[in-house]
Amino acid sequence: MIVSTQKLFEHAYGKYAVGAYNINNAEQIMGLFKGNMDSKAPFIVQLSKGARSYTDKRLLEAMIRAADEIFPDAVFAVHLDHGDEEACMDCIESGFYSSVMIDASHAEFDENIAICKRVADAAHAKNISVEAELGQLGGVEEHIQVDEADAKLTDPAQAKEFVERSGVDSLACAIGTSHGAFKFSGTQGLHFDVLEDIQKELPGFPLVMHGSSSVPQDEVERINAAGGKMGGAKGVDAAQFIPASKLGVTKINIDTDGRLVWCRVHRESFRDNPEIFDLRPAGKIFMEEYAKYIAHKNEALGSAGQLDSVREFINA
Ligand code: G3H
Ligand code: 13P
Ligand code: ZN
Repeated sequence: MIVSTQKLFEHAYGKYAVGAYNINNAEQIMGLFKGNMDSKAPFIVQLSKGARSYTDKRLLEAMIRAADEIFPDAVFAVHLDHGDEEACMDCIESGFYSSVMIDASHAEFDENIAICKRVADAAHAKNISVEAELGQLGGVEEHIQVDEADAKLTDPAQAKEFVERSGVDSLACAIGTSHGAFKFSGTQGLHFDVLEDIQKELPGFPLVMHGSSSVPQDEVERINAAGGKMGGAKGVDAAQFIPASKLGVTKINIDTDGRLVWCRVHRESFRDNPEIFDLRPAGKIFMEEYAKYIAHKNEALGSAGQLDSVREFINA
């Protein structure tokens, strides 16, 4: 059942965070839905601009509709991740998305607000909610590299004005995480003090944590043992998720970890089975392994076991 992102947030606020997982293909979709069903968790399926153009957005959306039929008990929202204004308007017009993210975080404060307001006005007319970003994460997104030096933590003093003037429904905050597999090089870490100050400015308002992959070290070791080169890869400690949820984080974005599972399964499969050229054996293992990973992650997010309660809340 595709539901409103805001309803998921209302149920989760202050208690747990909803996992927002990026998908690009059929195997990821199957593993994602199975993992959430196995752990009885509500979730958010998110599609980046790159994912929508990898094969074709219509194919990806049709596969999500099919997964909704294959897993009739699933409770999930569909979200555009890191959209520009054009992608947001396209998703709003399509009517398929529960929410969109307008990422104008590179723009100056007033310009960011103006862009977000145009998107929020169009989205709200269709009952779609909007996530915006204030501050700027480091790392790579949509092929744009943001150097750590240019990454800017969210300024709590700007948060309330930003939300009020733009009319957005949730706020992605830069609190020290970065996109990709190489987080926290040097002295960076999570800034819970900043998060706490943002929540004080915006009590009850859903906050979003991007760049939240844990980059499990056993996964990195297995990738490297099978020919990968990922020395120094490091992620967010999943034990931080519940404390973050108590400070208003209701959505936690995870993409890189799914790519690591894919990479490990396929590298090991090619190394161990040099005679195999069929794509399905490794694909089958990936779906199982990804489902296991998702179920495990949902335990750390606190979303595991919330499915029946969230369904009742939404249907009430
Ligand atoms: O934050 C970016 C997400 O990990 C999506 O990555 O743009 O390569 O699909 P992508
Ligand atoms: P990771 O690169 O840490 O998985 O972050 C993903 C993300 O923020 C998607 O918007
Ligand atoms: Zn992101």
